[in-house]
Amino acid sequence: RIEDYGISAENGFLPPEPPLEILPDPYYAKWETVVANLQPLLLSKRVRAVVDTMPILATDHLETDAEWRRAYVVLVFMLHGYIWGGDKPAEIVPPQLTVPLLQVCERLELPPVATYAGVCLWNYRSIFPDEPTDDLDNLACLQTFTGSLDEQWFFLVSIALEARGAPSIPLMLQAISAARRGETPVVTECLQQLAEILDGFTALLTRMYDNCDPYVFYNRIRPYLAGSKNMADAGLPNGVLYDDGQSTPQYRQYGGGSNAQSSIIQFFDIVLGVEHRPTGVTRNDQASANTNESPRPRHGFIHEMREYMPGPHRRFLGDVESVANIRAYVEAHRSNSALCVAYDACLSMLRVMRDKHIQIVSRYIIVQSRGARNASQPMEPNQPAATNLATAAPKDNKKLRGTGGTALIPFLKQARDETGEPAIDSW
Ligand code: HEM
Ligand code: ALA
Repeated sequence: RIEDYGISAENGFLPPEPPLEILPDPYYAKWETVVANLQPLLLSKRVRAVVDTMPILATDHLETDAEWRRAYVVLVFMLHGYIWGGDKPAEIVPPQLTVPLLQVCERLELPPVATYAGVCLWNYRSIFPDEPTDDLDNLACLQTFTGSLDEQWFFLVSIALEARGAPSIPLMLQAISAARRGETPVVTECLQQLAEILDGFTALLTRMYDNCDPYVFYNRIRPYLAGSKNMADAGLPNGVLYDDGQSTPQYRQYGGGSNAQSSIIQFFDIVLGVEHRPTGVTRNDQASANTNESPRPRHGFIHEMREYMPGPHRRFLGDVESVANIRAYVEAHRSNSALCVAYDACLSMLRVMRDKHIQIVSRYIIVQSRGARNASQPMEPNQPAATNLATAAPKDNKKLRGTGGTALIPFLKQARDETGEPAIDSW
């Protein structure tokens, strides 16, 4: 049952009920006050001083799952505001954040950093609850760093995509059972419907351009999403010390928020049998490594990102992987052209989506990083907080990193090319 993994047929990986807008217990009023004032606190560069004087709140007043999720959202927005909301990034996170955050993360099986779950999955409300969630025009964010419409839009496009992808989950589970029973027409029908969903995904993805300005994204929003891994250029060479007030803190490094942490896209890959290798490793490399003694790592960044998904979603992907049979089924029925066409249509839609995504990355990151590099330093006499990631743009594009920590373009191009690989030629 998908419900056992915190997934629903209506909302997919979005929570079954709408996210809580505020923690109900007044015990947490301090947290809610800080996040409600996050933008003025960032503008006045007072986040750190305010968080440092907060009490260390216990997690035992959190009751429902929705409350634990809300606590995570509140804490990671404060965390990233704290780290990136000054002239220089903060290398030490105080116990006021660390102590409750580590407990919340243990419960939700997430790393103590702002993930896609925190900024997208659990961070929205419907404007009109009786209207659909997959309609971008009916969504609002609960929390942002900058308060800008651009930032809301950046998160909302992903949230709408999750909602739009939700029906594909029962649909493809049905396809897997149908393949097990040898019901080719059902498998074909499911694949046809998936191809349509994927087509709609690309259209929705390109709506990013409508309301998220690339300059604002790159210079104002993105710096707050950065993690602590591969962040030497932005001022965190060793990562971040999570001071829990007890043991001597050790440096920790985590990737920042990235859509690579979205379970729905990985779900598509898994059901369609698309495999991703570590960046730079070709299919031949991997084949020869299997016969050689020196095994290469089988999985790369995309697989690693499962550790940044809520535990139940990560387990769901693993379990689907163990029963995924569509690709093998299509290969075994090459003579059925309707089936092969439907399968190939899915792959090609997914590939087109990755192509469009690369265009977005090029406009929102590559082009913008040139602008930031050319701007004389310091960019402005009184720079707003959290420009570190933007102004740290290296001269060499090859050194540019995504917030998740990848060498973005080679990584994304390889992921796109791998999407075409298992295509089955039936004629
Ligand atoms: C990965 C940028 C929006 C889906 C990435 C990566 C970057 C990036 C740089 C590489 C991983 C990393 O280091 O973070 C952007 C930008 C966006 C955007 C600049 C908009 C302004 C989206 C949206 C989706 C998406 C709306 C939803 C479909 C993905 C996926 C990956 C990824 C699935 C993992 C790679 C793959 O599976 O092909 N993105 N992204 N991105 N992004 Fe985006
Ligand atoms: N992963 C996206 C980036 O690198 C958000 O900017």
